[in-house]
Amino acid sequence: MSEDFDAVDVIRAKRDRLGLSTEQIDWVIDAYTRDAVADEQMSALAMAILLNGMDRREIADWTAAMIASGERLGFSGLSRPTADKHSTGGVGDKITLPLAPLVAACGVAVPQLSGRGLGHTGGTLDKLESIPGWQASVSNEAMLAQLDEVGAVICAAGSGLAPADKRLYALRDVTGTVEAIPLIASSIMSKKIAEGTGTLVLDVKVGSGAFMKDEAQARELAETMVALGTDAGVHTVALLTDMQTPLGLTAGNALEVRESVEVLAGGGPADVVELTLALAREMLAGAGVDDVDPGDALADGRAMDVWRSMIAAQGGDPDAELPTAKETQQVTAEREGVVGRLDALAVGVAAWRLGAGRARKEDPVQAGAGVQMHAKPGDRVQAGQPLLTLHTDTPERFDRAQQILEGAIDIVDEGSAVVTSDLILDRIGG
Ligand code: URA
Repeated sequence: MSEDFDAVDVIRAKRDRLGLSTEQIDWVIDAYTRDAVADEQMSALAMAILLNGMDRREIADWTAAMIASGERLGFSGLSRPTADKHSTGGVGDKITLPLAPLVAACGVAVPQLSGRGLGHTGGTLDKLESIPGWQASVSNEAMLAQLDEVGAVICAAGSGLAPADKRLYALRDVTGTVEAIPLIASSIMSKKIAEGTGTLVLDVKVGSGAFMKDEAQARELAETMVALGTDAGVHTVALLTDMQTPLGLTAGNALEVRESVEVLAGGGPADVVELTLALAREMLAGAGVDDVDPGDALADGRAMDVWRSMIAAQGGDPDAELPTAKETQQVTAEREGVVGRLDALAVGVAAWRLGAGRARKEDPVQAGAGVQMHAKPGDRVQAGQPLLTLHTDTPERFDRAQQILEGAIDIVDEGSAVVTSDLILDRIGG
């Protein structure tokens, strides 16, 4: 087949800081999907984009081309509006688990296509797979039926949704080109727009445990994604939220499911409850439901009822005992004082090294592995008091987890100023 463009010309244009035309972008994504552009050419282009950026028009075209590479789902046949949430990933971020059933309990359907974890951030599917019997794969028909009957589904994205992104993301992962705002924004938004949700709430994390370490970068990513969603007719809002400290008191698969169930039972750590309710309010407002208080649905058990039905609909047993790790080890306070800092990245890497996460996408994860936190910034501690409990099935992993935690927790004198950041830093869009 004769080609409309030459891949080398497209790479040279971006290398030389020129804008790519809509036609060039449509061609390069399509040609990559059908193997007419080689991986080495696409990686050179991705690196040129990382170094030289893209303007808003180019990002919108890139996103549209990735959507066009696959199928689009539609939920217009449902009797209720739909809303979805996407988090850019953090440590202890189990919010999807209580949030999806909570929003469904308030009358809005939640089609939540999720992924597995890679590196130090956990994946929602890995967490739910620690529930005996639960299945991540759901056909499009079964997904629609579950949305109609239960109101919420959390499942793996099928291979038909933005296949160009799937291939490009794997390439970026091994070529040092993940951290490009145009590529992150188009990757996330192509999947969310193709999924067909009416409302999208983005939780863009900022801090050591997040993709975006500083607020300016996170804000740029959030603004780019909000513009892409809005232009595609999806009601899109982003919250910038703190990821300097882990969310809640657990990082690890079954550990995080247990904490999510505590939230659904009306308890759980205050930060997890605060963020769950803030995101739920945004999703409900975006979907036009503003007369229901999600706090009531948590308190009176309606969210828990939807959780139980949602887990059972995918083969899981909501009453089954969750797996626990075979071995534990504690990290204790070296001195008396107040916790001044608990570094999210170190806790995430420790949970990963204990077996909760994977280094390559084909690696298995341990359901019971992870880190349980007993104190957070601002809490008083005594010398010798447990600060963390490390969980794993393979105790030879303890040393490497302990290594990364060295220097990750500061204990300061009582009365010293402990700077704790607000959990919700800003709101963009809407
Ligand atoms: N998540 C995605 O889906 N894509 C990215 O590029 C980064 C995070």
